[in-house]
Amino acid sequence: MSAPLHILVVGAGAIARYHLHELLVQPGVRMTLADADPARARALAAKLGADFPIVDSLAAGLVLRPDAALICTPPYLHAPMAREVLEAGVHAIVEKPPAGSLAELDALIALAKARGRLLLPIVQVRVTSGSYLLRALADAGLTGRFLHGTVETHWRRDMEYYSAPWRGRYATEIGGPWAGLAIHGLDLVLPHLPAIRSVQAHGATLNHPIEVEDCGAALIRCAGGAWFVYTVTTHAHAEQTTGRLVFEHLEVRYATEPYGYAQMPWTVLCADPEQQKRVDACRARIVEPAVPADHEQAFHRQAQQWCEILRGGDARGHDMASYRPTFELLTAIYAASKTGAAVTLPIATEHPQYQRLAP
Ligand SMILES: NC(=O)c1ccc[n+]([C@@H]2O[C@H](COP(=O)([O-])OP(=O)(O)OC[C@H]3O[C@@H](n4cnc5c(N)ncnc54)[C@H](O)[C@@H]3O)[C@@H](O)[C@H]2O)c1
Repeated sequence: MSAPLHILVVGAGAIARYHLHELLVQPGVRMTLADADPARARALAAKLGADFPIVDSLAAGLVLRPDAALICTPPYLHAPMAREVLEAGVHAIVEKPPAGSLAELDALIALAKARGRLLLPIVQVRVTSGSYLLRALADAGLTGRFLHGTVETHWRRDMEYYSAPWRGRYATEIGGPWAGLAIHGLDLVLPHLPAIRSVQAHGATLNHPIEVEDCGAALIRCAGGAWFVYTVTTHAHAEQTTGRLVFEHLEVRYATEPYGYAQMPWTVLCADPEQQKRVDACRARIVEPAVPADHEQAFHRQAQQWCEILRGGDARGHDMASYRPTFELLTAIYAASKTGAAVTLPIATEHPQYQRLAP
């Protein structure tokens, strides 16, 4: 029998629907839904065929003493809400981007530690079959040194997308598609690359009447000297997400499917036929947790992982501290884009961008 868990989901919008769909099938979990517009919460509950208690604010939800709060509100509310949750002695799970700056993120990590509460990011691509594959190849010692990479998020967003009241402005969205769309590509590959040393980047707003960038390109240098190229556009005519990671002994590729790209089918190619046999054998040995029909691998496994961690499981490698390198790289990308100069990591606390993610 699973210990009971009460999760307060704050913000009943588009992404909350995915998380609720998965939490509903986790044993022993009950949920309360909070939205400043309770009619939206009621409509979402009806769509999911669920009978959640509904409240109209985070504060009203915290009165019910949940075990954790899952923050799915617009980005500018993430850090203040996470602070309120942690100060109430409740575990916090926070949508991306989790804060408005590295300074805010570090303060939240310190607060969670001081209060003995969990602070978890939302990084669903790290539990997909693509992540399993990259880990298995590395654990088997089959990759060798990282030599080159490209990670491309070529999606299409129209003005209906930007009509959400919080999108399009740095004050409310915190960052444009680097922080909101292409971030998943970084989440996916970053744990499998050497430490990042420096970044050159350019972002621009070319085709939408918005303040945040709508496209960008970054050249990222890793320890050991290899570069990878990281691009995002919201102007694609046929959406595609691609990644190509070239290591000394093999090359991993994913391509074409715009949103499910973190899952199979991925290709692993080796110039040496003997190495290819070893790689294929390694792939054949990978065992992954099953996912029920009608459930998305990424969101399902992530909900399962949250429940395990909230019930006392090991949070190492899944908490906000482990997510910080992604957020630091994102900060460096915006800093480099702003000045046109290369930015070296780590970002010191005195760096002007430490206090603000973007622009
Ligand atoms: N993990 C992912 O793949 C993924 C995908 C899409 C969006 N997101 C993130 O999820 C967050 C929400 O995005 P969305 O598309 O669901 O937005 P949305 O606009 O559809 O929903 C936001 C909800 O928050 C509610 N809200 C606003 N202020 C509130 C407050 N003070 N208290 C309570 N509720 C409040 C709104 O009424 C709305 O229902 C964003 O940060 C976005 O970046 C993540």
